[in-house]
Amino acid sequence: MQLIMRFSFIAPALFCLVFSQTVYAQQDRQALPDPFTFNSGKKVKSVTEWERRRKEILETMTREMYGVSPERPQNVRFEVFDEDKKALGGKATRRQVTVHMAEKGKQAQFDLLIYIPNQAKRPVPAVIGLNFIGNQAIHADPGIRLTTAWVENSGMFPCAADGRATDACRGVNASQWAVDSILARGYALVTLYREEVASDRKAQAFHTGVHTLYPELQQREDNFGTIAAWAWALSRGMDYLETDKDIDAKRVAVFGFSRLGKAALWAGATDQRFAAVLSNESGAGGGKQFRRGVGEDINRLCTVFPHWFARNLGKYKGKDTELPFDQHFVLALIAPRPVYLATAEDDKNADPPGEFATARAADAVYRFLGTNGFPNGPFPAPNQPLTGQIGFHIRPGGHDVKMFDWIQFLNFSDLHLQK
Ligand code: GCU
Repeated sequence: MQLIMRFSFIAPALFCLVFSQTVYAQQDRQALPDPFTFNSGKKVKSVTEWERRRKEILETMTREMYGVSPERPQNVRFEVFDEDKKALGGKATRRQVTVHMAEKGKQAQFDLLIYIPNQAKRPVPAVIGLNFIGNQAIHADPGIRLTTAWVENSGMFPCAADGRATDACRGVNASQWAVDSILARGYALVTLYREEVASDRKAQAFHTGVHTLYPELQQREDNFGTIAAWAWALSRGMDYLETDKDIDAKRVAVFGFSRLGKAALWAGATDQRFAAVLSNESGAGGGKQFRRGVGEDINRLCTVFPHWFARNLGKYKGKDTELPFDQHFVLALIAPRPVYLATAEDDKNADPPGEFATARAADAVYRFLGTNGFPNGPFPAPNQPLTGQIGFHIRPGGHDVKMFDWIQFLNFSDLHLQK
């Protein structure tokens, strides 16, 4: 009896010990890499040291995940091919610009569609973002040039014929672009089409748009991926904005939704001219933490979308916890500039708590750099935005961009970009 009693005491204790060791080991593997620890193991102690560490993080993430992007091309030329000072019933000036790029005898181009609010004092701050279906899809304005690049014909956007945009593609994606609100709040809106920049179709990947200028960058494992190409095009858009006297290039927020939200984050991380980053449901490879192991993982990203990231990321298929960083490092690269992560309850693949965890983990860097970081406290209730230098919300509903999201983006931008 005594023996049994003793055993009944020892066994759970033993179990607890073994179990806690296992849990400990798991936690250890999942412990988030520390942005303040140099690869050498040394700790960052000053802002000057942080600048060096920032470079190290940028190099590591470029090599292992996003791939190498080229410098600004040798020749960039901006052709303003359209201007209407009374667009949208007089509310805005519409300007359309082709960005022509040439490199070692090769050429590529994409269009920027720009609306500048007429009621606001210029130069105005701006929001720039890539779109999914072509510039003509964000608004029914008949003055927008139809894209000549390939356009998908999906259940959501049944408008293209043989991969070409038709007039039926005008405004098909308007519900995700709060053009009137953006203009009414005094911001210019600048957009460009992902497929003109770099094809998102697996078979065409790396053979269209800006990729054709740099075939040599595909001959390496840290190749110029498609997310990086989209981000790079946002920087070329910024090159143009720096020349447009109606826009204050020092007050430009970069926006993106989903895969294009991944690109917006990387644009903010790689180009410090962007004054703020607005990322909507960017999920895996965007705002979500890989180490939580919830929702889309590296294996799925690299299998379903092998062109998005550098081939090097494939080394971490099934090994998400072995990445030498996690996505709070992208926010650390953006710091101390404001960044907003918007999520939605039903967007499980993008793991909203994982995006929240990223914001929380980046807080220390933001505070170290003298900002108020991310507000303390638990995961917020739906429709209750958290606003610090890092902003966050979760709203009811699924993978989409809603008016609620835009209102939060504009409120957040007002805090940082409106004088
Ligand atoms: C897929 C993909 C996501 C991506 C999304 C989108 O769902 O798995 O990573 O964000 O497409 O871009 O809409």
